[in-house]
Amino acid sequence: MPEKVALIGSGNWGSAIATKLGVNVLKPENGFDPVVEMWVFEEYVKFEGGKWERPARGAKPPEGKTWVDEGYSPLTQVINEKHENIIYLPDIPLPVSIHANPDIKSTVTGATMMIFVIPHNFLAPLVPKLQGAFAPGCIGISLIKGIEFKDGKPILISDLLAEEMKKAEGAPVVNMSVLMGANVANEVAKGDFAEATIGCTDLAIGAKWVKLFNTPDFKVDPVADVAGAELCGALKNVVALGAGFVDGLGMGGNTKAAIIRIGLKEMQKFCQVFYGDRNILSETFLESCGVADLVTTCFGGRNRKCADIFAKCIKDGTPKTWDVIEAEELNGQKLQGTGTSKDVMECIHKAGKEKDFPLMVQIHKIAFEGAAPDTIIDINK
Ligand code: NAD
Ligand code: 13P
Repeated sequence: MPEKVALIGSGNWGSAIATKLGVNVLKPENGFDPVVEMWVFEEYVKFEGGKWERPARGAKPPEGKTWVDEGYSPLTQVINEKHENIIYLPDIPLPVSIHANPDIKSTVTGATMMIFVIPHNFLAPLVPKLQGAFAPGCIGISLIKGIEFKDGKPILISDLLAEEMKKAEGAPVVNMSVLMGANVANEVAKGDFAEATIGCTDLAIGAKWVKLFNTPDFKVDPVADVAGAELCGALKNVVALGAGFVDGLGMGGNTKAAIIRIGLKEMQKFCQVFYGDRNILSETFLESCGVADLVTTCFGGRNRKCADIFAKCIKDGTPKTWDVIEAEELNGQKLQGTGTSKDVMECIHKAGKEKDFPLMVQIHKIAFEGAAPDTIIDINK
C-alpha cells in the first residue's frame, strides 16, 4: 500500500514545504499516494485593483449574505484552480499533487503520514477532530516551533500531539518526529539551498520522513533527538526578538553576534534545566535545527523584523503593540516568538531560575514589561 500523506496547515511554511514533498510524492518509485490533502483554514478572497484582497479584519458579510454573495471566493478553491497559495506564499507554484481541503477530518482520512504545520495556538480545537480518521500505524511529524503547557508544566508540542491523538477509545499511538531547521519559508520555496533536521525516536522512521522531504535543494538529515531539535526551533524565536531589538537600536554586527552567542548558551541551559531527562544530544545544537536556524532567524525572520520595528517605534516616541505590528507587517502570518517568550518566562519564573537566563529575562522585560530596548545590554552587568 502506498503511503498517504496529509498536510495539516497551509500558511507560509506549510505552503513552502508543500513545494518539496509535493514533488517527491509524484515520483512512483518513492511509493507515495500522488495526492496530498492539505488542510486550509478557510478564508475568502477577491482579486481587485490588481491584487488579492480579504475582507477587513473582523468584518462580517451584510445580514443574510455570504462572502461568496459579495464576490469573494473560498481560498481553497483559488488554491486548487491556480495551484498557488495567493495569500500565504504568493508567486510560487504548488505541485499538482497538493489538494487544498477546508475539512480537517477528510484531510486526514486514511493518512499514514501526518504533517502538523500550524501556529500552535490554533492546535487545540483541531486535534480532537482527527480521532478515528487516520490509518492505524500512522506516523506524525511536527514542523511547529513553540512550546505548550499542560498542568502548569512545559510540554513539547510533539508530545502533546501524541497524547491528544491517543485520547479516543482504542486510538493507536502515533509515533511523533519533528522537522526543524534554518528554513525561512520564502527562501526555501524559491529553491535557495537549505538544510533541515528531522528529530526522531527511531532512525528507521527518520528515514521515511527524509524520503518525503529531501530534495536536491533541501537537504534533510535525521538525528535521534526529538526534544533537542524541537526545543531549538522554539527557543531561537525568542532570541530573534533580542536580535531585532539591537537592529532597531542601530547597533552593529558585533552586538548581534553577542546576542546570538549568549542566546545559544541559554537555549542549551534551558534544555538541561527543564528537559534534563530527555537525553538531549549536544551535537543537535550544531545541526541545522540549532545554530543554523538561530542565525537565519536572527537575520531574516519575521520575529527579528517585528522586534526591529517594536524597538524603532519606542525610540521614535511612537510605540506600537505587538498585535498592531503583526497585523501591519505580516499579512495574516503569525509571530511566534512573543508567545514563546511568555511561555519561557513562565517556566523560568516558576523554577526561580531568573539568574541563569539573563537574556531571556531581559527580552521578556523589553517585550512585555515596559523596559527600554537599550536595556538589552544590561545582561552584561
Ligand atoms: P503563518 O504564520 O504563515 O500563517 C498563519 C496560518 O494560520 C495560516 O495558514 C492561517 O490560515 C492559519 N490560521 C489563521 N487563523 C486560524 C485559526 N483560527 N485556526 C486555524 N488556523 C488559522 O504560518 P507558518 O509560517 O506556516 O507557521 C506554522 C509553523 O511553522 C509555526 O510554528 C512557525 O514557527 C513554523 N515555521 C515557520 C517558518 C516560516 O518561515 N514561515 C519556517 C519554519 C517553521
Ligand atoms: P520567523 O518565524 O522568525 O520568520 O522564523 C522562521 C523560521 O523558523 C526560520 O527557520
